[in-house]
Amino acid sequence: MNNFSFCTPTEFVFGRNTETRCGELCRKYGASKVLLVYGGGSAVKSGLLARVEDSLRRAGVASVALGGIQPNPTDPKVYEGIALARAEGADMLLAVGGGSVIDTAKAIAAGVLYDGDFWDFFAQKAVVEKALKVGVVLTIPAAGSEGSGNSVITKLDGLHKISLRTPSALRPVFAVMNPELTYTLPPFQTACGIADMMAHIMERYFSNTTGVEVTDRLCEGLLKAIIGQARIVMQMPDDYDARANLMWSGTLAHNGLCGVGRDEDWSSHFMEHEISAVYNVAHGAGLAVIFPAWLTYMAEHHVDKLYQFAVRVWDIPESDDRKTAALRAVRKLKEFFTSLGLPVDFKGLGIEQPDIDLLVNKLHENKGERVGAYLPLDRTRSRRIYELAL
Ligand code: NZQ
Ligand code: ZN
Repeated sequence: MNNFSFCTPTEFVFGRNTETRCGELCRKYGASKVLLVYGGGSAVKSGLLARVEDSLRRAGVASVALGGIQPNPTDPKVYEGIALARAEGADMLLAVGGGSVIDTAKAIAAGVLYDGDFWDFFAQKAVVEKALKVGVVLTIPAAGSEGSGNSVITKLDGLHKISLRTPSALRPVFAVMNPELTYTLPPFQTACGIADMMAHIMERYFSNTTGVEVTDRLCEGLLKAIIGQARIVMQMPDDYDARANLMWSGTLAHNGLCGVGRDEDWSSHFMEHEISAVYNVAHGAGLAVIFPAWLTYMAEHHVDKLYQFAVRVWDIPESDDRKTAALRAVRKLKEFFTSLGLPVDFKGLGIEQPDIDLLVNKLHENKGERVGAYLPLDRTRSRRIYELAL
């Protein structure tokens, strides 16, 4: 096991009606005026935004709103938010939505207190040293941004989708999590969220670090729980306990717990980010396509951890033929994604002829010539994995 430091100071306020407490929470964290950030309309339609505004009013916290954040959020909304927050004197961000909304709020929070261009942080020209505090009302369990220190933004010029990781400044101070808010999710978005949280666990699980039995078992247990709860939720979208278990899984998948003491490998995510940047597909759907392709390649070239995954997560019988067992697990994962209504190849994503040259070039331009740690990917390997997803 590697040395580690683990700090997740976010206050999670979980359960029914908890959104009515967000005013009180903003006050507790020192807000006098918040910039409320929300998406394309679901929070307005469901009445959630009005309930949040009411909670702020009751707590004596002023607010100004920035709506219209789209999935795979882009830089223009961040610039708009920075200008609005400065003009209105907002001293905290409150994100009402999923990863796209939360990540935009985090980028605004960092940009408001910075003299230069906020993109400097994403381009690694500057480090976020201070940011406004960010609170969250989560509406979709998926990206895990409510408990992570990351923000993922696409710069429209060049379609660069970059993940900024600065937990010391960007981790939300609180996250309100009411599972009932997720009842209105379309089944496809629920499924995308499930694929994303599973990927967040698997990117940490597929590691060459040994002596990590506790985090391995945490990962395997979480994956098994998610698979079980997902089946219930797809049948009964308003099953409170299944929604609640999925919501909490999405946070645990990505708050760092599953990765402590080991090297992680984020190559599937980085490969997917290029797909969603170029083709604007849902991040979770892109992962349902890329992860099985990455696993198939690993079954051929570095089967070790994959065999453990097959036996412990997918109940494949132990065998001397580790590669066949591993490939059976990949098939089971694909069948599972398909049962949720997710695509498992480029065609299913609606991309008949992906520009693999472009994807490979962008991947290595953005992430270097060796991507990942379990089996580092050079251009030949990443191309092969994209091809396996055809
Ligand atoms: O915009 P609205 O109308 O709200 O609709 C959204 C959106 O269309 C809808 N939705 C959300 N909650 C809903 C709802 N519809 C009905 N009822 C509700 N309760 O769902 C759609 C997707 O929303 P989005 O925020 O894009 O989803 P998600 O949470 O999956 O976020 C995806 C983004 O997060 C990034 C992804 O790359 C992508 O850009 N990620 C962020 C990470 C992080 N910050 O740590 C890590 C992840 O790996 C990921 O890369
Ligand atoms: Zn993700």
